[in-house]
Formats: sequence, C-alpha cells, structure tokens
Amino acid sequence: MFGYPGLSSPSLQLNEAGKLKHLLTLEGLKPHHIRDILDRADGFINTDTRQIHKQPLLKGKTIVNLFFEASTRTRTTFEIAEKSLGADVINLNVATSATKKGESLLDTIYNLEAMQADMFVVRHAESGAAHFFARHVAPHVHVLNAGDGRHAHPTQALLDAYTIRHFKGADFSQLRVAIVGDILHSRVARSQIQVLNLLETEEIRLVGPKTLLPHDASAMGAHCFTDIESGLKDVDVVITLRMQNERMSSARLPSEQEYFETYGITEERLKLAMPDAIVMHPGPINRGVEIASTVADGPQSVILDQVTFGIAVRMSVMAGIMQTQGDQP
Ligand code: NCD
Repeated sequence: MFGYPGLSSPSLQLNEAGKLKHLLTLEGLKPHHIRDILDRADGFINTDTRQIHKQPLLKGKTIVNLFFEASTRTRTTFEIAEKSLGADVINLNVATSATKKGESLLDTIYNLEAMQADMFVVRHAESGAAHFFARHVAPHVHVLNAGDGRHAHPTQALLDAYTIRHFKGADFSQLRVAIVGDILHSRVARSQIQVLNLLETEEIRLVGPKTLLPHDASAMGAHCFTDIESGLKDVDVVITLRMQNERMSSARLPSEQEYFETYGITEERLKLAMPDAIVMHPGPINRGVEIASTVADGPQSVILDQVTFGIAVRMSVMAGIMQTQGDQP
C-alpha cells in the first residue's frame, strides 16, 4: 500500500559518479548524500540570527517553479532560495497556463526547455510527476521534486532533519521521534521516515488511527502506535501532520473534533514526551484539529524555524545539484 515500484530507481537521480543530478526521492540515497546537504546548508544561514547568506552561485541560471498544486511555504522558500543564489526565477502560473487549454505535460516541458531553463522545481498531485519530468528533460536540465502526490517530498524531510540536528545535535542514534497523524497519505511522512533511517535514528514511531497508518511500517523501519499516550512517551521530537483530505478516497475519520480529542497534540499530552522535546509541523497547520494553538505557539514549537531553515536547505540542494556536472555558472 505504501510502496511505489518504479519510483525509487536511484539511477535516475544519480550520475555515474554517484552524485545527485536530480532530487526526486530520498529512497536509495546514502547517508553521505544527506550529510553533505545538511553540512552545506550551514554555510547559507547564521542559525543564531536566522540571517540567510546570499551567494551568487547560480548566477546566469534559469530556474522554473512549476506548482500544479497549492503551496505557501515550499513555493516561497524555493523562490527565496533561488534568488539568494542569484538565479533568474520564473514562476509558471499553472492556473493561467496552457495546461488549462489541454497542453500535455510533455509539451509544457519541451517548451520551457526551449526557453533555456536549467532547473525545474515541480509540485504535482500525481505520484511520479517529478520522475516523469526527469525522464524527459534534456541531459543538462535538473529536476527537483517539491512534492508528488502521496509519494515524496524530499526537501521538506531534509529541512526537518536539519531542524532536528540544530536543536538535538548530529547524533540521531539516541533520538526517539514520533510522527503523529495521517501517515498513510503523507508524502512528507514517507520522506521523513527515509531521512530518519538514513541518519540512524534510534526509534521512529508512527502514531494515529489504524486507518491512517501504513501496513508495512516495520519494513520501513518504523513502529506503529494507535494509542497517543504510549506513542508520545519519552520522545525527543514530535512531528504533527495535517489530514490529507484531498488524498483520501473515502471518509476515514469521524470528525475533526473527535480526532482532536483522540490524537490532537495538547499541552497535557506533550508532557508525556521528554521535557525538552521539540514540536514540528510542515504546515499548513490546522489549529484545534491536529495541534492545539497553545502548543503550536508554545515554547517547544520550532515550526517557524523549520520554515527559515528550509531556505538554507533548499539553497544547499540546488547549489549541490547544479555543481554536480561541472555546470558551474
Ligand atoms: C506539505 C505538503 O504539501 O506536502 N506541506 C509543505 O510542503 N510544507 C504538507 C501538507 O500539505 O500537509
């Protein structure tokens, strides 16, 4: 149910030297790929002042942001990251583009390439959309997956790993992480589980109602909990997720109110975690559904840090990928 055969082929995103030329998924990557990205991100931000260090490494390059699905944080932080690297940025407004007039995705790709694009950042409701792009672009063009259906959201998971590393240190082998909510339909959860495993996290817990948990959690290196109290017990990191209503084929939940009563992260429940546990959320947050406002805005929340760190991590991914094939500016 949770597997995506054909979407994990490492050969598509790695070059002959084993370096990233696209970023489509974290599956199949090695720990050094992750560490390189996180280490390079350190050079793009002062984590004390939260100031981004602009560096024109991608001057003269053209990056096209193609968001076929709604986005606030991901699209904006990609754009800030691209501009901070000195790239020329095009945001294709999909709502007014020729896609609405029946143009195929392939024709859109060829036309954008003809406009001399060097990189596409793609978000799409279909799992596999970014892989489709990577298979069809010219050899010098790079593709970044900014979220495809239920499948993957690699840069989100990388910025989450960066955030955890910032607050909890680089040794993940002592950390217990609980991911709470709609795991089954979440591309963020899939990529998070992969990054946490690559960084050798001691324990990854998936917490939620049975209908929203994957069936193959142990094969993914995680444990399922349907009881929120045991799921949160002594964890160092609590990651809350939104219900992916748009990706559910039928109503799997009784009501938002009932969900909050059973699984919502409240101040009371947070006391079960370690006293210095951090609370994360990729956004958009639904206050009073998966998280209480007092927790989202409380002292243990690092939700807005995730957003700022996301700029540095996305700069790191793009700078690393663009320099992979010697295509220096
Ligand atoms: C997530 C997404 O779009 O997958 N948001 C994000 O990128 N920050 C999570 C979500 O929509 O729930």
